[in-house]
Amino acid sequence: MNIVSAEFIQSNVSYDKCPEPNMPEYAFVGRSNVGKSSLINMLLERKQIAKTSQTPGKTQLINHFLINGNWYLVDLPGYGFAKISKSKRSDFSKIIKDYSEYRKNLVCLFVLVDSRHKPQKNDLLFIEWLGEKQIPFSIVFTKTDKLAKLTREKNIEEYKKVLLTDWETLPGIFITSSETSLGREDILNYIEKLNAVVKF
Ligand code: GTP
Ligand code: MG
Repeated sequence: MNIVSAEFIQSNVSYDKCPEPNMPEYAFVGRSNVGKSSLINMLLERKQIAKTSQTPGKTQLINHFLINGNWYLVDLPGYGFAKISKSKRSDFSKIIKDYSEYRKNLVCLFVLVDSRHKPQKNDLLFIEWLGEKQIPFSIVFTKTDKLAKLTREKNIEEYKKVLLTDWETLPGIFITSSETSLGREDILNYIEKLNAVVKF
């Protein structure tokens, strides 16, 4: 899919303030600093349409971007960032959980995990919760440019094994780098295919 236009629409504190749910929507979720905003910039080929930072906790709201005039891409706050006060953290997870559960036009939630780390408890808990709520998701491994190919493959295999202890089949899996644009075509083609079959 070509990105012909990408326009920031608005930021919101909760799902029910978001734009009218009348177009297919895809959101990026995961721990703070995992690379959600960077991945969005990479997909859209716009350097800072989504604000990124080396400091975790940069994205604090639900940010809507209108793509090609007919679908939404959403940048969400991160979860599980220890330096944010507890009350703020639970806000984050309420924002994220309510959005994931109640946003009517959400077609697929992309759950980002850092390819450098072993499966993390809060990611696995979040994924388990998505299963319970039957929210469709895919997993996106980020920052693969920081790893040698063999280590990356080993980590991803390890992740799949852990997922298969809870799931009969694996979700969609995307292997990405916002530095090298690895995975860009895969994700955009996947979205394009879904856009062709969903109706709102
Ligand atoms: P919050 O908004 O705080 O939840 O973080 P985020 O998940 O949106 O992360 P963000 O995109 O702001 O990236 C965090 C840091 O990781 C930044 O310093 C990015 O430059 C870096 N980063 C993100 N993706 C990649 C990647 O694919 N490769 C490399 N090398 N660095 C990355
Ligand atoms: Mg962000």
